[in-house]
Amino acid sequence: FQVPKPLNEPVKGYAPNSPERAELLLEIKRLKQFERDIPMHIGGQEVRTGRTISLHPPHDHQHTLGHFHEGDAAHVTQAIEAALAARSAWANLPWEERAAIFLKAADLLAGPYRARINAATMLGQSKNAFQAEIDAACELIDFFRFNVYFMQEIYRQQPESAPGMWNRLEHRPLEGFVFALTPFNFTSIAANLPASVAMMGNVVVWKPAYPQIYSAQVLMELFEEAGVPAGVINLIYVDGPVAGDVIFKHRDFAGIHFTGSTKVFQTIWQEIGQNLPNYKSYPRIVGETGGKDFIVAHPSAKAKAVATGITRGAFEYQGQKCSAASRVYLPSNLADEILGYVKQDLASIKMGDVEDFTNFVNAVITEASFDKLARYIDGAKNDSDAEIVAGGGYDKSKGYFVEPTVILAKTPKYVTMCDELFGPVVTVYVYDEKEFEATLDLVDSTSPYALTGAIFAQDRYAIDLATKRLVNAAGNFYINDKPTGAVVGQQPFGGARASGTNDKAGSALNLQRWVSPRAIKETF
Ligand code: NAD
Ligand code: ALA
Repeated sequence: FQVPKPLNEPVKGYAPNSPERAELLLEIKRLKQFERDIPMHIGGQEVRTGRTISLHPPHDHQHTLGHFHEGDAAHVTQAIEAALAARSAWANLPWEERAAIFLKAADLLAGPYRARINAATMLGQSKNAFQAEIDAACELIDFFRFNVYFMQEIYRQQPESAPGMWNRLEHRPLEGFVFALTPFNFTSIAANLPASVAMMGNVVVWKPAYPQIYSAQVLMELFEEAGVPAGVINLIYVDGPVAGDVIFKHRDFAGIHFTGSTKVFQTIWQEIGQNLPNYKSYPRIVGETGGKDFIVAHPSAKAKAVATGITRGAFEYQGQKCSAASRVYLPSNLADEILGYVKQDLASIKMGDVEDFTNFVNAVITEASFDKLARYIDGAKNDSDAEIVAGGGYDKSKGYFVEPTVILAKTPKYVTMCDELFGPVVTVYVYDEKEFEATLDLVDSTSPYALTGAIFAQDRYAIDLATKRLVNAAGNFYINDKPTGAVVGQQPFGGARASGTNDKAGSALNLQRWVSPRAIKETF
């Protein structure tokens, strides 16, 4: 029995008149025809509380997609109990059986669920078809298939034995339950956090971010159809601090798989620290958090390539990828040419809803996010240390639309060079072309984050210098490419410093965190 190393799922193009575009448009139309009633899923049961919150497409907030049932502390306890009740049978299931479930989930997603999950991601999170496809379909299929392959590698790792002795390593699941706390911006991450933990034999309480619930519901149906048994993954819609208050005080809390903002992760870590004496085991704390991702161009860079890196790296999915470029350092010899290309790109980009497939930019996720971005843009308009060189407009009358915006910073530590804005706003600082080395130090010291970054250069000495000098500035480092779009199995993803524990999503390293090995020695 051998699971072969998988290939990455091919990305569908959704070309005009293609059958896949027709199917996707039909699915969008179907979803928009009714307001969906969205229950929690606890212990295999749908749970409705009657206290509902409405979901709306960020690009069309007058339309209602559905209503989810919000739970409270009692539902968190119920979910923990359901998880613990399911634990023994699940933990004792041979790993090949668990593998079969997630391989089936991948196949369902590649086939009958593809249009549904993409449509739900497009409507619920305002992703265009291409962004939904590379996230909710391809990246998630890859997570399932590659993780099964890595799981097999982990279970097959065994120590040396000798005559008269047999040594074994038993990769036990954690003793207790794991909390998966997930962000709004990637459907694939929202699914992978509970799935990768469950794959290793653990039981999970999963709380998604509210703006992602519309697609989370489809993911739960996928898990159930693929054969994840009742109670193994329990999906709750509860306010974060309310859920945390129950979970982090529970004796059987065995770990957290988190992706979200740095601030929330730090709060959670402190809460866990305060409760440490109560736990049966030290909980595993795995978190991927914020970023202030950079592009730095050397004077030898190709101007057009840098411009494309900025346009795609900063503005795809409205700059709401954790990996999105948000601060850029351009050398004085190339800055005008690069910014000229970026302006040309932006002049040809369209912004609007997700059903028009020619829209490159859609809406930002919430009104709160829109308001925050508008404040920073207004701040730049009124500050002598900054100049808006492209975009700068915003309008929330129909949806939360913020124009792709380029701010030119006159000082290298201007506020938008430092803060994580999480939207379609990029800040550019122009450095003296003779000061490349000093600029690398600036890149390294300006932000507490270290998630992704990119160097554009043709000069090998410059590439080498940047790679060495920025050794701790990014967990994913790109040479002559945009800093987004890591592919499972090719560029394991995660950052350090304030960007996370760097337990690379979609890798054996990550799965290893969800087992507690026991070494067994038997003498004959
Ligand atoms: P967020 O931190 O606001 O929310 C993440 C989750 O935590 C949500 O489910 C939320 O409801 C919950 N939460 C919020 N406050 C809580 C509390 N006090 N106690 C318990 N739970 C709480 O993040 P978001 O806005 O959904 O996502 C955007 C953030 O995620 C950005 O900072 C981005 O950089 C980061 N992100 C990082 C990566 C990565 O790989 N490093 C990937 C995706 C997103
Ligand atoms: N795979 C996503 C990216 O790198 C997280 O943008």
